Amino acid sequence: MSVKIISKTCTGPVNIAVIKYWGKRDEKLILPINASLSGTLDQQQLRAKTTVAASAGFTKDRMWLNGQEQSLDNPRLQNVLKEIRRRARKRKSGCEDDLDMLTWRVHICSENNFPTAAGLASSAAGLACLVFSLSKLFNVDGDISDIARQGSGSACRSVYGGFVEWEMGKEKDGSDSVARQVASENHWPEMRVLILVVSADKKHVGSTAGMQTSVKTSPLLKHRAEKIVPERMQAMIEAIQKKDFESFADLTMKDSNQFHSVCLDTYPPISYMTDISHKIVRMVHAINAHFKKSVLAYTFDAGPNACLYLLEDHVPLVLGFINHFFPYDVNNEQYIRGLLSEPQKPEQKLLNDIPINPQPVGALQYIIHTKVGPGPQLLEEEHSLLDVSGMPTSL
Ligand code: DP6
Repeated sequence: MSVKIISKTCTGPVNIAVIKYWGKRDEKLILPINASLSGTLDQQQLRAKTTVAASAGFTKDRMWLNGQEQSLDNPRLQNVLKEIRRRARKRKSGCEDDLDMLTWRVHICSENNFPTAAGLASSAAGLACLVFSLSKLFNVDGDISDIARQGSGSACRSVYGGFVEWEMGKEKDGSDSVARQVASENHWPEMRVLILVVSADKKHVGSTAGMQTSVKTSPLLKHRAEKIVPERMQAMIEAIQKKDFESFADLTMKDSNQFHSVCLDTYPPISYMTDISHKIVRMVHAINAHFKKSVLAYTFDAGPNACLYLLEDHVPLVLGFINHFFPYDVNNEQYIRGLLSEPQKPEQKLLNDIPINPQPVGALQYIIHTKVGPGPQLLEEEHSLLDVSGMPTSL
């Protein structure tokens, strides 16, 4: 007789911060030195998908990521598993059957629908999706953002949709360092996101190591965390609540610039943005100057890719500008991916006013057109990435 396997399959979103998290006050619990805020992106374009299964028949915990078996011998993953089981146990004391399940080993299989190499926030989506799936498997309800936070800081914001704040909290045990939804994905439905994937073969410093060095060496980071971010968070929440795009855009760009200034203020310095990233910055400011107000905002994470926030009405013209300054190979049918929108060619007179030379073909690999979307989703069993024996269906 085959041994029972219980499984759940879920998807989880990427999030892109508009007020950046950079620096920890506790490395193990992953507690930040400042609050942060992000938009959760639609899972139609970018998502992690994870199946978690538990069975008395499994001999050890195992995990497969994008088709490759990975070690689970990683303190962050172990903390996440431990915390989920602890919470499930606390809820279920007395219910024998369920308690039994908590001693079973798990199999985890996860894949992204976008290239990990694109330098997008794949770990946030993956960790949020894993924690959400485990919470469904072990029937843990309530806020799970503090568990996701222990997998990767920014992952805690991916457990909710819309615009999400990560409150830094004050407690030593991290119990108040949680994510909270500021506005749902339906609040500002016109909000769109263009991700410009910059061709990059340059290796960069990972976020975890980078922020450690910044905390140790950057006086600007200390000033940012103590003086700048608290006020900026207030202003950003207000801008989102009022749907005031100009303020939202100005705050987003200033915060990205300050984060990258902190990176340069780190010793030795860290630079994530490339020449192309800086040209994108100039193009955005030129477009905003043309409109005489901010209609477009850039933000850059720990890599050269630009993430542009804008309203739906401006997408065709902005795509037209991008195609002019960053021309693409006409054979590349996959250049603009995601939501459909026909680029609108800007008038030559307007282009002449912008003192940027068009880049050679290939400066951008491709563009993802997406929007702000909902939090993690539970899928039907037929979408499972594990077969009836608990092994990946792709093997
Ligand atoms: C620049 O969440 O990847 O994207 O907590 O060490 O896993 P760890 O770091 P991570 O850092 C993300 C940094 C950022 C800014 C942000 O998303 O807020």
